[in-house]
Amino acid sequence: MSSGARIKPSFSENATKVLERRYLLKDEKGNLIETPEDMLWRVASAIAKAERAFADEESEEEWANKFYEMMASLDFLPNSPTLMNAGTPTAQLSACFVLPVGDSMDEIFDALKYTALVHKSGGGTGFNFSSLRPYGDIVKSTKGVASGPVSFMELFDHTTDVVKQGGMRRGANMGILNADHPDVIKFVKAKIEEGKLKNFNISVGTTQKFMKAVLNDEEWELVNPRTGEVVDKVGARNLFDLLCEMAWKTGDPGIIFLDKIEASNPTPNLGSITATNPCGEQPLLPFESCNLGSINLSNMVLPKGEIDWSKLERTVRIAVRFLDDVIEVNQFPIKEIADMTMSTRKIGLGVMGWADVLLKLRIPYDSDEALNLARKVMSFITKIGHEESARLAEARGPFPAWKGSRWEEKGMLMRNATVTTIAPTGTISLVAEASSGVEPVFALAYRRKAFEGEANLTYVNEILLDALREEGLYSEALIELILERGSLKELDLPDNLKKVFVTAHDISPEWHVRMQAAFQEYTDNAVSKTINMPHEASVDDVKKAYLLAYELGCKGITIFRDRCKEDQVLYIGTGE
Ligand code: CDP
Repeated sequence: MSSGARIKPSFSENATKVLERRYLLKDEKGNLIETPEDMLWRVASAIAKAERAFADEESEEEWANKFYEMMASLDFLPNSPTLMNAGTPTAQLSACFVLPVGDSMDEIFDALKYTALVHKSGGGTGFNFSSLRPYGDIVKSTKGVASGPVSFMELFDHTTDVVKQGGMRRGANMGILNADHPDVIKFVKAKIEEGKLKNFNISVGTTQKFMKAVLNDEEWELVNPRTGEVVDKVGARNLFDLLCEMAWKTGDPGIIFLDKIEASNPTPNLGSITATNPCGEQPLLPFESCNLGSINLSNMVLPKGEIDWSKLERTVRIAVRFLDDVIEVNQFPIKEIADMTMSTRKIGLGVMGWADVLLKLRIPYDSDEALNLARKVMSFITKIGHEESARLAEARGPFPAWKGSRWEEKGMLMRNATVTTIAPTGTISLVAEASSGVEPVFALAYRRKAFEGEANLTYVNEILLDALREEGLYSEALIELILERGSLKELDLPDNLKKVFVTAHDISPEWHVRMQAAFQEYTDNAVSKTINMPHEASVDDVKKAYLLAYELGCKGITIFRDRCKEDQVLYIGTGE
């Protein structure tokens, strides 16, 4: 297939460096064997091969060109595994997996093996460990005592260390334990010890029943999953307080609202959902996987300062088709995952560059106007995304588990059981030079090394530079000050500018939660978001944020208090 006259991708120097380190194919000696342009064409043409099954050769090429253009213009990028692996012999293209962990040696070590295989292929894994019998419980065959979920999690953590994702980056896991598991207190405290479970985000799985028990200060029963017996009782509020205190100290655990997730499980006919992928945005059934992709909203703003709705619609439609095609050409690490994924065909279309949009439109992130626009944008994306998935279902057939699904109840044929998810876009937002996911910008200016051993790069937010020039405020001295502080908060600048150009730490935790909830209202899956708190925030602030997330209908919540780990002995992570 020829590539015709292709537009050149518009990667910045920094983005090109990220691509060279992480994505571009290399030979055995580590020499690059493709350019960024080659990479995009490799991805576009590999994904468009899926079109062959549904159309003719000509339209395969047409779609490859459309996919290429959408990526080269940085309007959309798929998740990292698609960029790294499409068109290569190990074409595992998804970022998100959930694996079951049963209460037997066989099942635990099967799960461990599957984890290694998923990580090797570039994916991240989530687990709910609540089926495991608690610490100290009996083990009949050996007359011994059980180690409990937290000990087994350490095995998964160690495996993650040993098996780097595709040799490129450290693997990621989500570990969940339900609030009624007898080991929940051990679990909640698990990450207080330096470096322990460092490849895990952990979350307590809660229900409305638990949250009501917290609010009413009731007793809470802990149940042995092996026998169904109540083995202990704790104060629900004590458990919640401990959880919030640990989160205040370390950032973990988060909370997952399991029945909120179950209420939007599109295929209860296949079972209930008890876990999410590592960053929490993708609830999945056991053995299910999902491929993600994100639209760069920063490219959807017209020069006159409005959202370009027709461009956004066009991009959503092509992106949904792209993500559905990814499932067709995806090579899954094990058969169980292939079968489950093919039966629901979940995709997760999301966004990046949201904070950039708000800066461009001069709307403060912490304002009702921003929340309303978030709802408008995300409801539009989900509506068009559903329309497109329904159109694909007409042409290609609905997802195989459609019968008995919530979509059948609604009388709507769908190609994909879910369409939208808001991912963190940790790496792809660097490639697109957009703000990540729906997060506010972290700093308006900074100096840092892109990679170890390299010279410092100076970064100043482009939209801020434009605004300063427009208002006649630009000076090198001012830029120096912004570089020192990272924020405009303490600077002598007009209020309207200071209100708009806010950073993650200028925004109160409450507004962080409100923004997450606004996006959640119109997202099929979940929203990846970190609720940033200042160092001085109290445990009470953490409680408030967790309760607000519950009240506003979030599916989960993760907080991070600035420099919280400085209170412990610092451990140096390898990042990513
Ligand atoms: O930007 P990129 O596509 O690399 O990933 P992301 O949006 O930051 O993360 C999306 C998902 O990729 C996460 O929720 C994980 O499931 C997975 N991931 C991973 O497995 N390992 C990492 N080091 C980062 C992300």
